[in-house]
Amino acid sequence: MKKHPDVKKVMLSNHQLLTRIEEMAEQISKDYQNTYPLMICILKGSSVFFAHLLGKMTIDAEMEFMAISTYGKGTTTSGEVRLLKDLDIPLEHRDVIIVEDIIDSGVTLNYLIKLLQARGANSVKVCCLLSKPARRRIAIDISYIGYEIEDEFVVGFGLDFNEKYRNLDFVGVLKQEMYK
Ligand code: IMP
Ligand code: MG
Repeated sequence: MKKHPDVKKVMLSNHQLLTRIEEMAEQISKDYQNTYPLMICILKGSSVFFAHLLGKMTIDAEMEFMAISTYGKGTTTSGEVRLLKDLDIPLEHRDVIIVEDIIDSGVTLNYLIKLLQARGANSVKVCCLLSKPARRRIAIDISYIGYEIEDEFVVGFGLDFNEKYRNLDFVGVLKQEMYK
């Protein structure tokens, strides 16, 4: 969808997103040239970013999926992390890239990085489309960032509010009256 009445403004257009994602794919392909990285999509928010990113890579990569929940319903994190879908494969000797939609407090990623490292991965790096540095509660070392954004609640391109708006083809700021 290209427009939505609940969206106050477009923060990142489809063109901007795809351009940046292509650059990120090139960088990852270069950095992982002689490896076969295991790229983990964190469902559901990262799915749109993940598909575009992997489609622009020029090296082979393996795709895996995990689902994690921190937010119940709403726009603030509960701080509690639940593993809803785990990997089916071993991580020993693997170079893992966690692909995340947005890093906010850092609680989710902190949990995930520790979990994957404990399973014996050779390396664990983070690639996110968006980062909100102003809201960080736990410092996260992010190797690839699409865009750093202001502290505003955004939807679209996979990102939701109560499961809605994921199929917008841009990243937009939701009207306040939608969640207040
Ligand atoms: P963190 O654990 O606080 O870093 O939260 C990360 C998760 O919160 C993301 O994977 C999103 O699912 C969700 N989230 C954080 N900020 C936003 C936002 O602005 N829009 C939609 N989802 C968000
Ligand atoms: Mg979410």
